[in-house]
Amino acid sequence: MSAFVSGMRGAFLYLSRQPNVRRFLETSREARALTSRFIAGLTLEDGLRVARELDARGVMTSLDHLGENVTTEAEAIDAKQQYLTALHRIADARLPATISMKLTSLGLDVSEELGHANTDELVRTARDLGTAVECDMEDSSYTDRTLAIVREMHDKYVSVRAVLQAYLYRTEADVADLNARGVPIRLCKGAYLEPPTIAWPQKQDVDRNYLKLMKVLLDQGTYPAIATHDENIMNQCIEHVRSRNIPRERFEFQMLYGVRRKLQRQIVARGFRLRLYVPYGSAWYPYFMRRLAERPANVLFLAKSLAQD
Ligand code: FDA
Repeated sequence: MSAFVSGMRGAFLYLSRQPNVRRFLETSREARALTSRFIAGLTLEDGLRVARELDARGVMTSLDHLGENVTTEAEAIDAKQQYLTALHRIADARLPATISMKLTSLGLDVSEELGHANTDELVRTARDLGTAVECDMEDSSYTDRTLAIVREMHDKYVSVRAVLQAYLYRTEADVADLNARGVPIRLCKGAYLEPPTIAWPQKQDVDRNYLKLMKVLLDQGTYPAIATHDENIMNQCIEHVRSRNIPRERFEFQMLYGVRRKLQRQIVARGFRLRLYVPYGSAWYPYFMRRLAERPANVLFLAKSLAQD
């Protein structure tokens, strides 16, 4: 990664944690208009509309009610209610959709008990309704707590997926542990600022580790999700499953709503399973800033749409 790109990434990730900028932008009508490329809309109806459109094109979804690091019990309970409604609406509409949520949106920062109880109710409900909960992975201060809850939920209800980040040195051991327990894993590169003591600072090392862990997951994992927009990695995944005769039903690709849409269409046209991560809701700022951090050129794309107004 060039020093410039790495500096931009750091700057956007720093901004993603600034409450004043967040308050200002989330309440600005103009700023909200810019987010439509990456965010389905402000309401569950928006998320469901996108999920129906994608279903018609043979694409599965995971609905994310945006929110993270809530600081009160009331906010955490509200997030849980929003997700319960989403689960029932998904089941009523018979959509091939899961939900994706962050444990800190369900109160993990308020108390471990609150985050745990809310997650338990959601995973049990997902199981009862025939779907699943995908537990996004946040920064490394949450990794152990998140994985402990996911392991317990999997033992109790099965209907849960863990997310692991290839940039962390520890992830190889976590893959081995979760594979042995039969817990499905979404493998991503990792979207937060982490120190070199625990994560590879260089992109090529992250990519190399991703490829290595992806192959372990395809060979030994339980229905892994290969979550990336990296065409080279996706092609290597396809080559690997072909050479090992791994059936297409044994894994899925996952991509983010609005990112590399042509590549999304190509994956479906080639007959592979694809699930899009579809965020909706008013707390969009940190999610949106992480998308800018991943590709600073997105700022140019946004600037162009502003100039057109
Ligand atoms: P990489 O960054 O190398 O990009 C590959 C190609 O895609 C490049 O051409 C790049 O320009 C393009 N691209 C990537 N991101 C883009 C963007 N935002 N806009 C436009 N183009 C872009 N992270 C995490 O820490 N915890 C989590 O729970 C999740 N969950 C998750 C779910 C799903 C379904 C996906 C796809 C990703 C995540 N992530 C995540 C994010 C992940 O860690 C990572 O930051 C991004 O996916 C970017 O990495 P890529 O693998 O796409 O590769």
